[in-house]
Amino acid sequence: MRRPFSLSPRLQAVAELVPPGARLADVGTDHGRLPVWLVQHGIVDQVVASDLRPGPLSKATALAERWGVSHQISFRLCDGLSAISPEEAEVVTITGMGGETIAEILAAVPWTRQSGHRYILQAMSGMDGLRRYLSEQGYSISSEQLVREGDTLYVILLAQPGEMPPLTEGEVWVGRHAPGMDSPLRSRYLEQELEKLRRAADGLARSGRLEDREKLARFEQAVYEVEQLKKEWEQWQM
Ligand SMILES: C[S@@+](CC[C@H](N)C(=O)[O-])C[C@H]1O[C@@H](n2cnc3c(N)ncnc32)[C@H](O)[C@@H]1O
Repeated sequence: MRRPFSLSPRLQAVAELVPPGARLADVGTDHGRLPVWLVQHGIVDQVVASDLRPGPLSKATALAERWGVSHQISFRLCDGLSAISPEEAEVVTITGMGGETIAEILAAVPWTRQSGHRYILQAMSGMDGLRRYLSEQGYSISSEQLVREGDTLYVILLAQPGEMPPLTEGEVWVGRHAPGMDSPLRSRYLEQELEKLRRAADGLARSGRLEDREKLARFEQAVYEVEQLKKEWEQWQM
């Protein structure tokens, strides 16, 4: 018998956040590894797996056939959640894309802000924009988790409809200090985001453009806050 395939650390961490028995929609499924693995391991019975492009969706279909779980996965060729009903999407995973795309997918479908849905989100870039979008548009981030794969750190967000106190500029960049963030990786993450922020702030300051002044003030505030958070974190570690 073939041994079941394993997931990468990033997707494994996502899989572990899926509540057993949930009605799941995996948006942007690509290779389909996440839904196939979840069904194969009995975590969920039924999944809707969607992708914008036929090529990735056919890879996912082939993987499901290969592992004999096609009857438990409904494949949809569609943009985001557009061909998925709210009843099919108690839990939604959107992973491996840019934060802006994830925000657009949520924004395009009004029911994503109704109670009863939960989101497991992992962006390859643009985490700041995604956090800002969620906190300003009626979602609440309940936890954040850091995962390392090779040299790369990934953040996985859990969010649901609801209000949350507005994020500060620093929190937009590094998340609100939450239990899931109490990992040894936190220090490295703070350092990495601080570097990004300093570079962005320096670039804007050098450009000297008047229209960038407001953005520059936000970056400078974020740099200040993240430096403080980093110091507090390091003291707490000692
Ligand atoms: C890099 S793959 C990520 C695959 C998998 N979710 C993961 O985390 O490994 C991104 C996939 O998202 C799909 N995608 C991008 N924008 C999308 C959209 N608006 N709706 C559905 N799928 C989308 C792409 O076609 C691609 O297959």
